Amino acid sequence: MNASLPVPATITTIRPLTDDTTLYTLDCGLNTQNNGVASFLPGQFLELSLPGIGEVPISYCGFPSAGGAIELCIRHVGHVTTPLNRSVAGDAVGVRGPFGHGFPLDSYENQDLLLIAGGLGMAPLRSLLLALLNQRQRWGELTLLYGAREQGALLFLEELLQLAKRNDIQVQLAVDRLEHCLEGPPNCRVALLPALLEQLTIRPDRTCAALCGPPVVYPYLVSGLKRIGLPDERIHLSLERRMKCGVGRCGHCAVGTFLCCCDGPVFNYAQLAGIEGALA
Ligand SMILES: Cc1cc2nc3c(=O)[nH]c(=O)nc-3n(C[C@H](O)[C@H](O)[C@H](O)COP(=O)(O)OP(=O)(O)OC[C@H]3O[C@@H](n4cnc5c(N)ncnc54)[C@H](O)[C@@H]3O)c2cc1C
Ligand code: FES
Repeated sequence: MNASLPVPATITTIRPLTDDTTLYTLDCGLNTQNNGVASFLPGQFLELSLPGIGEVPISYCGFPSAGGAIELCIRHVGHVTTPLNRSVAGDAVGVRGPFGHGFPLDSYENQDLLLIAGGLGMAPLRSLLLALLNQRQRWGELTLLYGAREQGALLFLEELLQLAKRNDIQVQLAVDRLEHCLEGPPNCRVALLPALLEQLTIRPDRTCAALCGPPVVYPYLVSGLKRIGLPDERIHLSLERRMKCGVGRCGHCAVGTFLCCCDGPVFNYAQLAGIEGALA
């Protein structure tokens, strides 16, 4: 793979998820032509470029496909992601990757898994969730806690409500507030994510937690997980830092002596515990 060169990809479907967030499916062509950009581990990311505009790091959101299709869930916030909102099916973009370390799936064998997503953090965790469900028999109990500002900001809500009907996964949704004072969807409470943790019973010696969310919530989640007995090595979290090169050359994404683009974005908390500002 030559990670510094983008390969062309075609937008095949565009699905608005919320007011400001869209799910894109891209066709990257067959593996022999796409530098392996569609072969990734959940938690890894790629660099997406709009011709003539710029490039941004985006997490893989779907399941790896041998056919070269990838899903990206993108919030339109700035000078690259806002023009992307004007794209139509058939438009061309550039992609290079995969980059970084994803979630350590092999170490999850026979473990109970607790996935905790906040806001847009559901994008990379959806990829992990799909991978776990695809080989459901390999893992122990599976729990997803997902929180967002309000019901309208919950990504993949229909998909998650369908999942909640299965008996091999526990799904709990939380919103900071209910819109229009209406009743929320089933499995959804008005609560903050750390409060959901307090009501969980886990087996700390055989549970791993995978976290992805806004940095502000990490210190609360980590303390909550430690309070219910989870050791630092069993807490895996994805750190987002401003990135430029994506391949360890520019130093933009440094966290202590780590570079987020190569050493992360997924770290276990034991790696980060002594680093000032790591969770900021
Ligand atoms: C490893 C990684 C994975 C990511 N995965 C996703 C994803 O799956 N979906 C998604 O929508 N976004 C994701 N992001 C964030 C995304 O890269 C930024 O939103 C994007 O770079 C903004 O670019 P822009 O040119 O559109 O905005 P800019 O014009 O650069 O900035 C617009 C606004 O967005 C803020 N911003 C810019 N970059 C970031 C950032 N990295 N984190 C937080 N705020 C930022 C700026 O402060 C500014 O307020 C990820 C970032 C990283 C590092
Ligand atoms: S983005 Fe350049 S070193 Fe990480």
